[in-house]
Amino acid sequence: MRVLLIRVLAVVASTAASASAWAADADHGADLARRWCSSCHLIEGAQKQASADVPSFAEIAQKADFTPEKIAFFLLDPHPKMPSFPLNRLEAADIAAYIGSLRK
Ligand code: HEC
Repeated sequence: MRVLLIRVLAVVASTAASASAWAADADHGADLARRWCSSCHLIEGAQKQASADVPSFAEIAQKADFTPEKIAFFLLDPHPKMPSFPLNRLEAADIAAYIGSLRK
């Protein structure tokens, strides 16, 4: 697990440093989020239903300490209130990029 997380951070750091600022695919992240996350989270403005006590992705993106790196890290690290997902590190980075795209 530790090795995986370090590799994720390396990928995230290298994509963040590249010329395009963020090479992860936010559109792909949105597809993954619709499939895996929308049963609990409000993942986009058009969505009508989600669990009431779960933060929306827009809210998560607005947090002062938000970074895509932290989200990617969080997704690969099991979290007590959320199921673990069969995401690889690129998918986690894509979802993180999608959430990042919601930050105003
Ligand atoms: C079974 C319901 C459920 C699903 C499915 C789910 N989540 Fe969550 N998520 C939660 C809950 C509940 C919280 C609030 C946890 C807390 O307050 O400790 C949360 C919190 C979060 C947070 C905020 C963590 C923080 O500390 O700010 C992020 C980011 C997140 N989820 C991302 C995702 C992503 C991305 C997916 C899809 C891959 C997903 N979640 C799928 C229930 C879910």
